[in-house]
Parts: sequence; structure tokens; C-alpha cells
Amino acid sequence: MKKYRLAVVGVTGMVGRTFLKVLEERNLPVSELFLFASGRSADRKLTFMGKEYVVEELTENSFDRGIDIALFSAGGSVSQKYAPIAAEKGCIVIDNSSAWRMDPSVPLVVPEVNPEDIKWNRGIIANPNCSTIQAVVVLKPLYDKYGIKRIVYSTYQAVSGAGMQGYSDLENGLRGEAPKKFPHPIAGNLLPHIDVFTDNGYTKEEIKMINETRKILGDQSLRITATTVRVPVFNSHSESINVELEKPFDLEDLKNTLREAPGIVVQDDPANNIYPMPINATGRDEVFVGRIRRDESVESGVNLWVVADNIRKGAATNTVQIAEKLIEYLDKE
Ligand code: A2P
Repeated sequence: MKKYRLAVVGVTGMVGRTFLKVLEERNLPVSELFLFASGRSADRKLTFMGKEYVVEELTENSFDRGIDIALFSAGGSVSQKYAPIAAEKGCIVIDNSSAWRMDPSVPLVVPEVNPEDIKWNRGIIANPNCSTIQAVVVLKPLYDKYGIKRIVYSTYQAVSGAGMQGYSDLENGLRGEAPKKFPHPIAGNLLPHIDVFTDNGYTKEEIKMINETRKILGDQSLRITATTVRVPVFNSHSESINVELEKPFDLEDLKNTLREAPGIVVQDDPANNIYPMPINATGRDEVFVGRIRRDESVESGVNLWVVADNIRKGAATNTVQIAEKLIEYLDKE
């Protein structure tokens, strides 16, 4: 089996640290590892597979060493600037920021949904927004079997999605301190505001969910609306997803379709208080779905409650799964 020279950019961050954990767990064929962050973290030491690595400052020359694959999670502006530099030098970037997701020349991939799109990459592959990933894992089997007319997303998103500073705002807020990252206290509160507001009154997070769902499912005609909300939960995003299907369905068949689909765990036993919750999803790589019930206000509608670890399946795990698929394709070349 071939081994690959791998880099992690933004390795000191919330997602970056989890990249290392997931890479270790899944035992990727890594021959050499290079770790990058900002100058603030240069010379910090991190351990991977029992070996110590020194974090380097990311510069324009960082990729001059025959790096095969780089996992990026250092924010949009870093990706905007450095992903093309890396790609130019023959490295394939898997980028967790929103910088390249809607670029028509960049595949946007969830391995359970559209792994084949990896093949047409030109050096950059985008990892979708965390809330989109967990939604499309569940929507894809329904889309294939019943067709989808319309989707209404309402999200309940954890503070870890806003990085280390978001996490600290909740920790410190619980002790009564003022927020630094969010515009209002998050402890004992919730904010119907994720990312910046745009001219039509939607936030960018809401627009990301709409556009990315269409791109990943490959259907620009899908009718979708979204409201995204930050809640005082440390980790794992929850979503209420209302779906109007094209075809009629039997509820048990629909549940079985979800049970058989890859990457999904159905937790749906209301009589025993069993339904997905953030505290149970944290640390897991699957997407959990429950509260599956008919929407009786339309001809063929269903309500779903979908929970996943936003740092793992919503970011690091999905990125590493893309790397695994990419390696599978590269091994065959
Ligand atoms: P650093 O820790 O040196 O600031 P999070 O979103 O969890 O806050 O993580 C952001 C990640 O992106 C961190 O690893 C951070 O490194 C990294 N980062 C921020 N700015 C840059 C930059 N200009 N160049 C490289 N890495 C950066």
C-alpha cells in the first residue's frame, strides 16, 4: 500500500486537533506529517501516533516539500490564500472553510452522499458546512427513494462550531463573564444569528445550508429554507428537518430506508424516551436521527430530528473520510 505525505493546516484549532485524533483512529497510510498554524503557535509540540511533531508557521513555502494531501481548517482567508498555493505545488487540499465550497470547479463532498465527485478535483476539494453535512447524510436516501420537493431547516448549533473562542464564551459565560466571540451572552440564552447577516435578512450560515444542500444533492431546483440558531450546548449540532417528499411513503419503510443507509443511526423510541441528543452524539462519527413522524399538514411530509458531532462528522471526520476515499482513488492510478 502506498503511503502519503500529509499536512494539517490550523492544527492547534478545535477542528485541527480533532484531525489528528481521527487520523490516528482511522490509521491512514501516512509516511510523513507536517503541522502548520499561525506564527503564534510556531514551535509548539504535538504528539501523533506516539511521536512528537513541531508546529510550523504557515508560509508560502510550506508546500515546497512534495506534500501529497493537506487538510485545512484555519479559516476562510487562510484557505483563500494558501489552498491555491498548495494545489499549484501538486498537493490536494481538503478544505474545511467556506472559501471554495461554491466554486463550480471545486467538488463539495460528503462521502456517504457523493464520493464520486472527488474524482474531478483540480487540487482543492471542499468539506461542507457542519450543519449541511449531517442533514444531507439523512436526506440522500430519502431523495433517492421518494424524491424531495421542499426542505425546512431549523438548527440548534453548539458553541464549538464557533471555534475555541465560541467554546470559551460559554464556559466563561456560565461563570458570569461577558462574551468575547458572540455579540450577546450565550449562557442561558440562544442567538438566532450564526455568521453574518446578508441583505435579504438571512445569515450566511442559512444561505450556506441552502446552497450547499443543492450542490451536494446535485439538484438546483430543490426548494429550501433555513433558520440557524446558536444554543448554549458545548458540542454537537441538532436540527429539526421538515421534508416534503415527491412520492407517498409508508412510515415504517421510510424508517427502514434510513436504518439501512450508510453513516446513520436511527434512535427513535419515544415510549422509552429514546431520541438523539447532543450529549450522546459527542465523540461519535455517525449521524443520529429520531422523532421520525408524518407531517400531517401536507400530502407527503415527514419531520426528522437529526443530531451529530459537529467537530467530528461535521468537520474533522468528514474531511478524513474524504482523504480516505481520495487515497483509494489515488492508489488505483
Ligand atoms: P493559532 O492557534 O496559531 O492561532 P479555531 O477555529 O478553533 O480557533 O482554530 C483556528 C486555527 O487556525 C488555529 O490552528 C490557528 O492557529 C489557525 N490559524 C489562524 N490564523 C492563521 C494563519 N494566518 N496562518 C495559519 N494558521 C492560522
